[in-house]
Amino acid sequence: MIELDNVTVRLGERTVLDGVDLTVRRGETMVILGASGSGKSTILRVIIGLVRPDAGRVLIDGEDVTGYTEKAWNEVRRRMGMVFQYSALFDSMTVGDNVAFGLRRRGLPEEQVRTEVAAALTRVGLDGWQAAMPANLSGGMKKRVSLARALATHPEIVLYDEPTAGLDPIRSATVDRLVMETQRTLQTTAVVVTHELVSARKIADRMAFLHEGRFLEIAPTERFLQSREPLVQQFLRGEETLAETRVTEDDRR
Ligand SMILES: Nc1ncnc2c1ncn2[C@@H]1O[C@H](COP(=O)(O)OP(=O)(O)O)[C@@H](O)[C@H]1O
Ligand SMILES: [Mg+2]
Repeated sequence: MIELDNVTVRLGERTVLDGVDLTVRRGETMVILGASGSGKSTILRVIIGLVRPDAGRVLIDGEDVTGYTEKAWNEVRRRMGMVFQYSALFDSMTVGDNVAFGLRRRGLPEEQVRTEVAAALTRVGLDGWQAAMPANLSGGMKKRVSLARALATHPEIVLYDEPTAGLDPIRSATVDRLVMETQRTLQTTAVVVTHELVSARKIADRMAFLHEGRFLEIAPTERFLQSREPLVQQFLRGEETLAETRVTEDDRR
């Protein structure tokens, strides 16, 4: 469904992705792990066409989209939804208008927009919140609105950039459950970027570990957790220690 073939991305002086190969199969949930600055967000931005590779190819559903114009990319993007880090809601719009955004851009009649918005908000447990403003929501609720916005257009591919970042364990578990339910009921193909192993273990079919713009390991979850790659082992040990000592923080900001 998604294929990155030897993708290299340079930003400024830096080689951010250094010959990345990645295949994500239809219906699969691929989790990308790695330290901050390893290039995880850049991979998502390549998949959704916001960053163009300097070398290599991007294939979506077997179609080589590498050389596509912005107009052609817009068509490809219609099949995708993205949940950005920090929710990235439009602060001046109501919750309902945020979720309706992609639907209106597709020119759906207003009555149908309302129905789809209600359905998307119901899926994340927030129907009835259409008139609320994002500023009055907790961090966990903003994440759920962001998820509703990404799913409202029924995308085949959903990209999640650290969907549980900044949330306490209980709210994280709620978002994880929504991601899992989405995968099960809508059978989307998903790429989830996270550095939280607890979430990753619950939602992943396969896991990939990125280090300085290269994948050191890509494997089904159980096999990944047994990886002999020293840096992967170090990451897994570090995350376990973190999970034990993690302080519960309020997610409101
Ligand atoms: N627009 C940019 N210009 C220059 N460097 C960038 C740009 N965007 C990201 N980078 C660098 O690329 C590296 C990878 O970034 P990113 O993909 O955001 O990593 P991650 O999501 O894993 O934290 C980082 O070192 C970051 O500083
Ligand atoms: Mg990032």
